[in-house]
Order: sequence, then structure tokens, then C-alpha cells
Amino acid sequence: MIDAAPVTDLASLSAWFTTYCGSFRCADAEVQRNFDLKEVHTRNVCEAARLIAQGGGERREMLAQVAALCHDLGRFPQYQEFRTFLDSASINHAHLSAQILKQSSLLDFLPKAERDSVGFAVSLHNVFQIPAGLPPETEDLLRLVRDADKLDIWRVFIEYFFAPEGERASAAGLGFPDLPDCSPEVLAAIEAGEMVKLTMLKSLHDFKLLQLSWVYDINFPSTLRLIKERGVLEQLAATLPQNAAVLAILDRVNHYLERRLAEDAAPGATTVD
Ligand SMILES: [Fe+2]
Repeated sequence: MIDAAPVTDLASLSAWFTTYCGSFRCADAEVQRNFDLKEVHTRNVCEAARLIAQGGGERREMLAQVAALCHDLGRFPQYQEFRTFLDSASINHAHLSAQILKQSSLLDFLPKAERDSVGFAVSLHNVFQIPAGLPPETEDLLRLVRDADKLDIWRVFIEYFFAPEGERASAAGLGFPDLPDCSPEVLAAIEAGEMVKLTMLKSLHDFKLLQLSWVYDINFPSTLRLIKERGVLEQLAATLPQNAAVLAILDRVNHYLERRLAEDAAPGATTVD
């Protein structure tokens, strides 16, 4: 582990994270841009986790930020060794993050039950489906980190598409080819109200649609409100081809979001599809 002041609380963990990121510093500007991407992402996920956890007690807010700060620790050694963020072509970065936590004393300032909850939330933050049978506090923390992570991945991806080519963090697009069309299988999944699986993707547009389908996997009303406030759907829509099939599924996801927001505003008044 890197040399830094002892970690005794959220503030010192946050300072440690800065030192940790600094330990991967690289003279190659393109490589460094990809490390910077993950450092900024982690800071934003941390802030999003704080916003989503607000109102649920100080301890929950603190743990949400601890888990957010640690969720992508594995991204740094992953990129250092494999020069990709594609887990299937390298290593499961969430497991690696959890392993880094286990092999360090970073979370020793927490009681064992909370340390275990953070460890599970970190290790499972990228699974397709949350497993059954987790302790309620662990499941809550995991759901929080997943929502916060999605909120900022949307920002990363939207910025990537609107940035001039030379300024893009090259690994953000995961290497999918920029083909003109969307795969029918991907469009059909979203139309059916389902999450798109990574194995279905054939193009960058498909990857954008996968991100759009994440709206179906959002757990907390506060996250849904942030999606709306930040104009996530409109911005993702602007990067997609404007044909009838795409417009139909954009409409579908938009309706889903509005319906869940209405359901939250007046529970029982509407149904969620
Ligand atoms: Fe991650």
C-alpha cells in the first residue's frame, strides 16, 4: 500500500484516495487522461451518493460516500496493467477493488459489520442483477452505490460524445465500433422494459442504448429526480440516430421515468410498468 497519513474517517479516506490516484501518475498524456477520468468519476460518484443518501441519517450518508470512494479502486491497476476498462478483456474491476480493500487497513476505522457491507457493495456494484439474501443494510448500500455510479457514468459518456476527438479519454467508449445503426435485439429489450446485456452489444450506439436501459434499474426516487434535473435522457437522445425505432424507445424510457416520478409523488395513484 502507498504511504499516506492513517485513514481514520471519511475525510482521511478521501485524502488517501488523492495519494492513491497520484501513485498511478503516467507521463503518457492519453494514459493519464484515462486515470483522471476515473479519479473525477469517483469524486462525482461520492457526491452523488451523498445526495441520494440525504435524509437517511448521517451514518448512512457517510457509509455511502465511503463505498463510493472505494468502488472503483480496481480501475487504476486494471488500466495500468491492461490499458482497458473492459472487464471481459481484462479483469473484474469490482472484485479487484474489494480485494484491495481486504488487503489493506483502509476500512479499519469502521466496525466489522459496516466494513463487510462496504466490501459487498464495492464487490457487487457492477453485477447485472443484485443477488437475493443480502443483509438489508448491505443491500441498501449496494443500491445506493449503483445509482450514484450510473448517474456519473451518464455524465462521463455524454461528455465523451460532446468532446472534440483529441480531448476524449480514449478508454471511455470501451472500443465499440461507431456503426450507423442500432441492433434490433437491443431496441427490442428496451421496448420490453428490460435492461440491455453487455453481450448483446455490436456498436457504440448499442452501448448508448444499454446506458439508456439503466433507467429501469434505478432504485431511489432521489436518483430519478436527479436524472430528470440533469437532462440525462435528452442528452443521451441527442447522441443517437433519430429514426422511428429509436424515437419510440426514447419515448418508452421517458414515460417510464415520468411514471415512477409520479408514483413517488403520489404513492398508489399510478402503477409502475
Ligand atoms: Fe465500477
